[in-house]
Amino acid sequence: MTTITHLECSQCGKTRPAGVAHNLCECGGPLLVRYDLEKARQNWSRDWIPDGPSSMWRYAPVLPVSKPNYIVSLGEGMTPLLHARRLGAALGAPEVWVKDEGINPTGSFKARGLSCAISMCSELGIRKLAIPSAGNAASAMAAYAAAAGMEAHIFMPRDVPQSNYIECKAFGAHVTLVDGLISDCGRIVAERKDAEGWFDVSTLKEPYRIEGKKTMGYELAEQLRWQLPDAVFYPAGGGVGLIGMWKAFEEMEALGWISSKRPKMICVQAAGCAPVVRAFEQGAERVEFWKDATTAASGLRVPKPLGDLLMLKAIRDSGGTALAVTDEEMLDAGAELGALEGIFAAPEGAACVAALHKLYDNGFLKRDERVVLYNTGAGLKYLEAYSTRFPRHAASEQDKLGGLITPR
Ligand SMILES: Cc1ncc(COP(=O)(O)O)c(C=O)c1O
Ligand SMILES: [Zn+2]
Repeated sequence: MTTITHLECSQCGKTRPAGVAHNLCECGGPLLVRYDLEKARQNWSRDWIPDGPSSMWRYAPVLPVSKPNYIVSLGEGMTPLLHARRLGAALGAPEVWVKDEGINPTGSFKARGLSCAISMCSELGIRKLAIPSAGNAASAMAAYAAAAGMEAHIFMPRDVPQSNYIECKAFGAHVTLVDGLISDCGRIVAERKDAEGWFDVSTLKEPYRIEGKKTMGYELAEQLRWQLPDAVFYPAGGGVGLIGMWKAFEEMEALGWISSKRPKMICVQAAGCAPVVRAFEQGAERVEFWKDATTAASGLRVPKPLGDLLMLKAIRDSGGTALAVTDEEMLDAGAELGALEGIFAAPEGAACVAALHKLYDNGFLKRDERVVLYNTGAGLKYLEAYSTRFPRHAASEQDKLGGLITPR
């Protein structure tokens, strides 16, 4: 099982013991989990991984949970890495790949982070949880809390996709719809958690979600036979997936599994909420709050990500870049990916396809480079957004209830 040793502040370096509940460091920095990678290197081989479970828990030695019986799993991870041959042919680029995270439980990569976080809550005896969410993290938390028999309190924007609201209710969570963004939801959780006895599962304030998300990086290496690609496209809201993968690459190098070669990390955001792109272009270390954030890619509506420092550092250290695409470009790209590859992507994932076009056109990427696009969620979760692209008009009110074969 785990080789966890301690937690370390990503800003001031102060360390904390494993085995107790943590949120942020008192300096405000997110905590990162550290492992005895030397011990793991001696006692574990990458060749044994395929014999492990067919889920992200095959990387248990570099995950924080101490005993298998604490693991709360719905089969998250081990998502397919698909060779997008027809999209690649249309772009004149033979090495375009899509890691399809829409296959995860609750239809997004958020399942990885929440499986890990809820497993740690189970280990630490925490029973009441609260989360501010842009939508998909809420669905995932509600599902894992239900599976673990824990109480889930969800705060999300009133205009989240229907799927997120309905999933949370179906999983038996207490749902509050907030007139505002994830930042407003986060404030409400912070204000109420002590009085209510809730553990705050906000992304990066809780240190274990990132550990689940980092398995996207481990899997990528495993699926590409331990040769990382030339570029990784990731649609960043909070940026935790990107930070997590960067951490995974560092760990795998320490384990002796990969070389020091890193992919260019490409951060894709929505034109209506692009604080990381703006900071990247200005050469800033931190982002400034993005006012009036708006985009159909609800997961990208994060006006001030807590992990900005780590994210910007990873993008720069990797020789990558950050760019924004409009909602129209993402939905068009979603339709293109769907028609060419049979992958129905969330607008966030589709944004990566739109960004790929731009980086070929401006020469940032060469067409023979191997690129991996993360489709972070299922298009099926975003029917309101896609119905603007594919409108369907009911002939009468009655038709909305069904067609010829449905009883009226
Ligand atoms: C489908 C989807 N993609 C991407 C993101 C952004 O995730 P991260 O916090 O890792 O940047 C979200 C977050 O809600 C999401 O739901
Ligand atoms: Zn600190």
